[in-house]
Amino acid sequence: MMNDQTLDFIIDEMIDAVENSKDEIFHIGEDSRQEYEKLLEELEAIKVQVVDVIEDGDEIERKTKLSRTRLLEVNKNFRKYSEDEIRAVYDQTHKLQTELTMKREKEHTLRDKRDDIQRRLQNLEQTVERAEGLVGKISVVLNYLNEDFKQVTELIHDAEEKQEFGLKIIEAQEEERRRLSREMHDGPAQMLANILLRSEIVDRTFRERSVDEAIEEMKSMRSMVRSSLYEVRRIIYDLRPMALDDLGLVPTIRKYLTTIEEYNHNQFEIKFEPFGKEGRLNSKYEVALFRLIQESVQNAVKHAEPKNIVVKMETCKNFVTASIQDDGKGFDISNKKDKSFGILGMRERLEILDGKLTIDSKEGVGTKVLIQVPLN
Ligand SMILES: Nc1ncnc2c1ncn2[C@@H]1O[C@H](COP(=O)(O)OP(=O)(O)OP(=O)(O)O)[C@@H](O)[C@H]1O
Ligand SMILES: [Mg+2]
Repeated sequence: MMNDQTLDFIIDEMIDAVENSKDEIFHIGEDSRQEYEKLLEELEAIKVQVVDVIEDGDEIERKTKLSRTRLLEVNKNFRKYSEDEIRAVYDQTHKLQTELTMKREKEHTLRDKRDDIQRRLQNLEQTVERAEGLVGKISVVLNYLNEDFKQVTELIHDAEEKQEFGLKIIEAQEEERRRLSREMHDGPAQMLANILLRSEIVDRTFRERSVDEAIEEMKSMRSMVRSSLYEVRRIIYDLRPMALDDLGLVPTIRKYLTTIEEYNHNQFEIKFEPFGKEGRLNSKYEVALFRLIQESVQNAVKHAEPKNIVVKMETCKNFVTASIQDDGKGFDISNKKDKSFGILGMRERLEILDGKLTIDSKEGVGTKVLIQVPLN
């Protein structure tokens, strides 16, 4: 299976490859630029040469013209000149003409070369431009790989965490069922078995001893039935407080807190201070807030050994704020436990509602849990 480490590795490889191409292209661009500079110098030199060669050519042309005129004149008056003189003028004219042809050829070659260099310069210019463009584009790709793709890894990580959390919820549900069956088994089932036994004893006492003794036995049996009833009610209540649907949030919390106090034989005092708007909220908020407060109070009771717990709740038009404060042991928030789902579940619940959870805890001082839920 692909995990985020593999993905990270692949992304890093890609980044390396792209960075290498970027360097290469940058070098191609640099080389092209250097060649461009070199050719530009060459071009300047050739331009000067072209001018020189043209000037030279023009000079020779002028001389050739003069020489031709002179040849014409010599030819016309050949009697006036000696054969050697005539030959000299001939040779001179021929030499000049050859020179001129050569100069013109050189000029032609130089011009060709100049045009060629100009063409190459144009090409190089395009190459440099393209290289620069590519480097820019590659930078964008690199950014994408570095920033956005890393975010993908994070997203995948988040998704994996969510999936894990889903599994934990299933585990927690299973755990909850086990706890419930154990509670039913240890509590009400045991008590009912006891009551059955006692009823037989009552029966026997009535027949074999005295009515008074039987009545005594009955009394103790009644108290047993009462505590079974209490126990069953507590279990039902833990599952889902029916009062929440019937009475609403504030009375249910109040009842719950009183029950908790009594159940723990008043080892600590719980104060409840509801503020603000009265009336019912949408049931999803009521259930969520009850569960959030319940979990926080349970944590305080279970882990903190407090003297006092204060639960405050304020209901406004657009949001509900609740705080649960204890003066118990406190704990290190960053220290995550493996088999603890309470706070994790609170976070998940609040995320669904767009709410916020803040836990402030100091070892030896106590813990304050702040819950904020927007209403819409
Ligand atoms: N009010 C508190 N005072 C002291 N320690 C606390 C308090 N609330 C939480 N803790 C510590 O944080 C841990 C995590 O709490 P959490 O509610 O997530 O799990 P849990 O209570 O251990 O188990 P669960 O809620 O799943 O039954 C607790 O085990 C406890 O050590
Ligand atoms: Mg807990």
